[in-house]
Amino acid sequence: MTAPGRLVVWGAGELGGRVARAWAAAGGEALGFTASDTRHAALAADGVTPHVGAPTDHLTEADALLFAVPGSGRQLAAVEALVAAGVAPPARAVLIGTTGYYGAHPRGTVDADTPPGVTDRARTAAAAEAAFRAWAGDAGVILRCAGLYRPGRGPVSALQRRGLAPEGPPDKTLALIHYDDAATAALAALRHPAPQPVYVAAVPPCPTRQAFYIAACVLLDLPSPRFTAPVGGVPAAYDVRPLLSDLLPTPAHPKWQEALVPA
Ligand SMILES: NC(=O)c1ccc[n+]([C@@H]2O[C@H](COP(=O)([O-])OP(=O)(O)OC[C@H]3O[C@@H](n4cnc5c(N)ncnc54)[C@H](OP(=O)(O)O)[C@@H]3O)[C@@H](O)[C@H]2O)c1
Repeated sequence: MTAPGRLVVWGAGELGGRVARAWAAAGGEALGFTASDTRHAALAADGVTPHVGAPTDHLTEADALLFAVPGSGRQLAAVEALVAAGVAPPARAVLIGTTGYYGAHPRGTVDADTPPGVTDRARTAAAAEAAFRAWAGDAGVILRCAGLYRPGRGPVSALQRRGLAPEGPPDKTLALIHYDDAATAALAALRHPAPQPVYVAAVPPCPTRQAFYIAACVLLDLPSPRFTAPVGGVPAAYDVRPLLSDLLPTPAHPKWQEALVPA
């Protein structure tokens, strides 16, 4: 595939904005679509052309598209809007999916072929992926992203706001990826000549909830976290070898402890 000259980012927020900026910095044309104009001045200052709303009237078959609208329900609606408008898929389309696809407590090895979980969230994620796949066909790449973080955003910031660790079992894997690494992987997926259809996008080693929240509560000087009963069995081990081989050979943020930064 020849590298597409123009990138359309639907959902040019934290992650989509990073990818759009990197595309523009490399000399490409980048359009960034958002729900409001809050981020527009910052996007424009970095060479990204901002728009409010959907890219339905802008997208051409020669473009690359990054789908980073937040939440699987909104992603499903966004794909359905493209289909309803008769928009043809572009040369490459990358969907920012979620490891929420695997349900509440996946166990054992989890890879691109692991079936979706049975929670409402997992079902919606699977429906968004299926609609995206049906529309984009072979041009589509899905990154099932783990929890995204950067200083000031992510699980530690949420803990700081709430003052209490969320309820949950101690032996669940908390898969994480820094925004910068997710952006690097998304950019590589947009440019890769022959990517896999689906990647699990987490940076190992992943902590358990117990390891993460004990360390986070010490950091924030909060009461020790309380956990529900363990799930048992083998905590999820996310197979990220395809990600590391194709899209993210050298994560810039390889240690989950980097997520332990207060806002
Ligand atoms: N956060 C996580 O831990 C996590 C984990 C896995 C996957 N993901 C996925 O990662 C992606 C990026 O997340 P993020 O943290 O970068 O999100 P974000 O910072 O909230 O950015 C989302 C962007 O989408 C825009 N937007 C929302 N609805 C829209 C619509 N209907 N039409 C056009 N633009 C719309 C927002 O506009 P405004 O700027 O006007 O608000 C914002 O710019 C999302 O797809 C999310 O589902 C997140």
